[in-house]
Amino acid sequence: MSRISDPFLASKVTTAEAAAELIGPGDSVGISGFTGAGYPKAVPAALARRIEAAHARGEEFTVGLWSGASTAPEVDGVLADAHGLHMRVPYNSDPSLRALINSGEVDYVDSHLSHSAQHMWFGFYGNLDVAVVEVAAILPNGLLIPGSSVGNNKTWLDQADKVILEVNHWHPREYEGFHDIYYGTALPPHRFPLQMTHSFQRLGDPYLRVDPAKVVAVVETDAPDRNTPFKAPDADSQAMAELLVDFLRHEVAHGRMPKDLLPLQSGVGNVANAVLEGLVDSEFENLTSFTEVIQDGMLDLLDCGKLRSVSATSFGLSPEGQERFLDNIGAYKGRVLLRSEEISNHPELVRRLGVVAINGMIEADIYGNVNSTHVMGSGIMNGIGGSGDFARNAFLNFFVSPSTAKNGAISSIVPMASHVDHTEHDVHVLVTEQGLADLRGLSPSARAERIIANCAHPNYRDALTDYVERARAARPTAQHTPHLLDEALSWHSRYLATGKM
Ligand code: COA
Repeated sequence: MSRISDPFLASKVTTAEAAAELIGPGDSVGISGFTGAGYPKAVPAALARRIEAAHARGEEFTVGLWSGASTAPEVDGVLADAHGLHMRVPYNSDPSLRALINSGEVDYVDSHLSHSAQHMWFGFYGNLDVAVVEVAAILPNGLLIPGSSVGNNKTWLDQADKVILEVNHWHPREYEGFHDIYYGTALPPHRFPLQMTHSFQRLGDPYLRVDPAKVVAVVETDAPDRNTPFKAPDADSQAMAELLVDFLRHEVAHGRMPKDLLPLQSGVGNVANAVLEGLVDSEFENLTSFTEVIQDGMLDLLDCGKLRSVSATSFGLSPEGQERFLDNIGAYKGRVLLRSEEISNHPELVRRLGVVAINGMIEADIYGNVNSTHVMGSGIMNGIGGSGDFARNAFLNFFVSPSTAKNGAISSIVPMASHVDHTEHDVHVLVTEQGLADLRGLSPSARAERIIANCAHPNYRDALTDYVERARAARPTAQHTPHLLDEALSWHSRYLATGKM
C-alpha cells in the first residue's frame, strides 16, 4: 500500500540522485536522525557521490550538517569519507567523522541537545538551506507520520528553505500515534510554561507538519536503521548496576524518593544500558522514564512490566531489540512516546518532574568535575549530548564509568579533569565498579577523600592520595580545592608519553 497519500506530495516522488542535485556547495543541511535511528537512508549517500564527483573535477563542495544527534555510516560515514563536510552540529559518534574533527578538517559544535533547535530559531546558526527528513508515511492531508526518532525534525522542517522527504517503508505504518510533536514553542519573551506535570503527558500532536510548497523532492526507501548491538554486560557493568540500584533503595529508605522512584533518564552507551538491565532484577515496580533514547535495557523494563511508560526522542536499539519491538509493536503503543529533543531534554521539565539521571563519563576528578567528551583533554569522543540537559537539572544524577580504561592503563579518576562538561556544582553521585561516592553536601576536600576511597582503582589510590596530601601541604592558604597545577596536568601527559593515546 502506498505510504504517500497526499496527491501533491506524491507528485514530488523522485530518485535520491535527483534529490541530491538540489543540495548545493556550501549549503546548511538539517537532517533527521538520532542515535542511529530515523536518519535518511538514500539522499546522503547520493549527495556523497555527487560531492566525490565534484572533487574529481577539481571543484570545491562541502556542506554543513545539522542533525538531532548521531546518525550512521550511511550519513556521517559516507559524507566524511567523501570529505564533504565543513561543519557538524550538534553531536557525532561516527568514527570516520570523529577522525576528521580531531584532525581539524571539520568544525564541530558539540552542543547541549536541548539547545540545538532553539539556537537555530534564535538565528545563532544562520540560515538552514535544506532539510532532509525521514518519515514513516505521508497522510492524505499532508501530515507526516514520524519514524523511529524525532530529534530536531520539527525545527528543520519549519526552518529550512527547501525540504526533501524520505519515506521509509521499513518503518512500521503502526508508528502512527507513537509521537508527540509540540508546536507551541515561541521565542522569548513570548514563551509560556510547558504544562507537563507527569512524564507521559502529551503536549502536542502525533504528526509533523510541513509546508508543501517547500517540499522539492520525496524519495522512497526501504532500509533498516543502524541498530548496533550492545556488549553483554560484563562484571564491571553489573557491579555498577548493583551499586546504583542499591543506592536507589537507600534513598527510598531515607524517605528522599517514592518507592516507585522518580522518572528515570539513562544515557547512551554500554554501561548506562547495563544499569537499566540491573533494574529488571530489582524489586522496583511501576517505574516511569523521561529520557532521550530508548535502549534495549528500557525495552526489557517495559517487557517485564516494571516500567509503566517511557518518554524519549528516539530509539537506540540493538538488532534483537528492534525485532522484539517490531514483533510486539501493538503492546508498546500507549507506553512509548517520542517527542522533539527540545522537549524530551527540556531543562524546565527535567527539573519539574524530578528526573533521576544516569550517564556515562570518560573521567572524573577527585573534586567531582566530570569529563564526558574528551580523551586526554583534546580529542573529542562523541559529545555532551543530553547529559548536561539532564544532569544539571536532575533531582539526582549519577555518572558511571569503569575505574580504568584501556585495560587498566588509564585511571578514570584523575587529579584534575582534562576537560570539564559537568562541574563539581552539578555532580551528585559517581559510580565505578569499585564503589559509589555520594558527593551531595560535601566540601571539595571531603569529596576528594570519598572519591579516592570509594571509586578509584586500587592501583591508582596511593598516587591520588599522595597528590592530595602534597597539594594540601603546598599552599596552606589555599585549602579549599588544593591543586599542584603542573603535576595535575602531567598526570595525563604520562599516558601521552606512552605513544598509545
Ligand atoms: N581515557 C581514555 N579513553 C577512555 C576513557 C578514559 N578515561 N574512558 C573511556 N574511554 C574510551 C573507552 O576505552 C572506549 O574506547 P573504544 O571505543 O576505543 O573501546 C570508549 O571511551 C567508550 O567507553 P566505554 O567504557 O565503552 O563506555 P560507554 O560506551 O558507556 O561510553 C561515554 C562512555 C562517556 C563515551 C558515553 O557515555 C558518551 O559519549 N557520553 C556523552 C554523551 C552522553 O552522556 N549522552 C547521554 C545523554 S542522554
